[in-house]
Amino acid sequence: MAAPSTDGSGSIWQPYRPPAPLPRARRLGPLRLIPALKRNPLECWATEHFVRPLIVGGLPVGHVVLVNDPDAIRRVLLDNASNYRKDRLQRRVLSAGLGEGLLSAEDDAWRNQRRTFAPLFSRRMVAQFAPAMLQAAYALVERWRCQDGATLDVAAEMARLTLDVLERTIFSDGFGCKAEEVRPAMVTYFETIGRIDPLDLLGLPTWVPRVSHLRVRSVLRFFERIIDELIATKRRRLIEQPDGAPQDLLTLMLAAVDPGTGEHMSEAEVRSNVLTFIMAGHETTANLLSWSLFLLSEAHDWRQRVRAEADREIGSGSVHDLAERLPHARAAIDEAARLYPPIAAISRVAIESDKLAGEAIPRGTLVVIAPYVLHRHRMLWSDPDVFDPTRFLGDRRSRIGRYSYLPFGAGPRTCIGSAFALQEATVVLATIIRSFSMRVAPGHSVWPLLRVTLRPAGGLPMKIKSDR
Ligand code: HEM
Repeated sequence: MAAPSTDGSGSIWQPYRPPAPLPRARRLGPLRLIPALKRNPLECWATEHFVRPLIVGGLPVGHVVLVNDPDAIRRVLLDNASNYRKDRLQRRVLSAGLGEGLLSAEDDAWRNQRRTFAPLFSRRMVAQFAPAMLQAAYALVERWRCQDGATLDVAAEMARLTLDVLERTIFSDGFGCKAEEVRPAMVTYFETIGRIDPLDLLGLPTWVPRVSHLRVRSVLRFFERIIDELIATKRRRLIEQPDGAPQDLLTLMLAAVDPGTGEHMSEAEVRSNVLTFIMAGHETTANLLSWSLFLLSEAHDWRQRVRAEADREIGSGSVHDLAERLPHARAAIDEAARLYPPIAAISRVAIESDKLAGEAIPRGTLVVIAPYVLHRHRMLWSDPDVFDPTRFLGDRRSRIGRYSYLPFGAGPRTCIGSAFALQEATVVLATIIRSFSMRVAPGHSVWPLLRVTLRPAGGLPMKIKSDR
């Protein structure tokens, strides 16, 4: 175990190095790479990926570069973003079947949707959802109190909670009678799209059938039916009581007007985006919370800080700015997102040739930006594998380069839901830590697994003890 350290405030803490695969001494060759990618892409990275600014080559076909240099990343995601489009693999894995929603749309369709929906996810608007997030956290606390001393799969619990938050904030009244069918369908969706299909890696065109796609399609049809019913109910309610309908995200989406054209979104666009927000915001936030709870269960000093702050702030003052009054909970979350970024890799394809970090980038190159690698890069971070939320407090936070830390991406296609996710995670984490002590179940070893999102392999069984 590493020696105790101080954080600048004078308090002594024991550095904690959470579980992660050791980088390989050398890269895998193409034959071993494909099955390894299918098993767990995190275990494929080699030492050179964590020390060099740019690495050429990787996949068995096509020209691929991994970019770690912050200036080069800025060029791909911001300065020359129009030259780098979302590639087929990324669309297939991260937005399978989500139609022309914000995650997968391009060009004018994307621009219109983005500027229409951006105000719905502004900080001011997101603050209005804080009470619903806190209510969802309280509901979980009540449920857990009835199971005091039990071992629960915290990863599954967080998935349930984040779905609950989305239900409360998008539909107010929830999924109604279909709620119990929605959760298992969500699990099937993520299990199926989560496995990288070797046919996708080999770049085979979409018309070559993949068994996985058929399964995804039937689950999506089920979701679409439910969402169509909820939209129809909401429209009826808006006609019957124009001023009385709850101001949830669905009401706001139906009312939203594109500032460029003055038009409302079509029925299909609203449906695609409801589905997109659920799919993009559910597992990602659940994993961020699971990792944060796991890390705090191992780092006692930090758990105490988060608890003291939560004791002081929850229940006093306004709920709307609660997350802003919880800087220690937020720092723990930011550090969890550094060590275990839920979206561990982002990719783009170069439309025209370019130059990145002094390297020629031919057109058609697949450019990979991997927050998991970037956040542990030896040239960008000190003690990169150590859990140290003080990096995100005060002055130290302002020294972190914008393009060295990318849990939510950057540039025009940065995550539209980042303020929503961070507020939710902060409020929920503080509420749970305030009420419970948690330990990983004896005999279980926690391990990160990349399947669409970065999750704990085999769930996160933890023994829960109520402290109040
Ligand atoms: C911890 C939680 C989350 C993480 C780590 C996360 C991460 C990301 C990342 C990295 C991107 C950019 C992908 C790229 O550039 O290719 C993205 C885009 C996106 N995210 Fe999130 N996200 C989270 C939560 C949410 C939530 C709560 C919502 C909505 C309710 C959401 C909706 C979206 C959408 C719609 C996009 C596409 C934006 C566009 O292309 O204009 N995300 N997210």
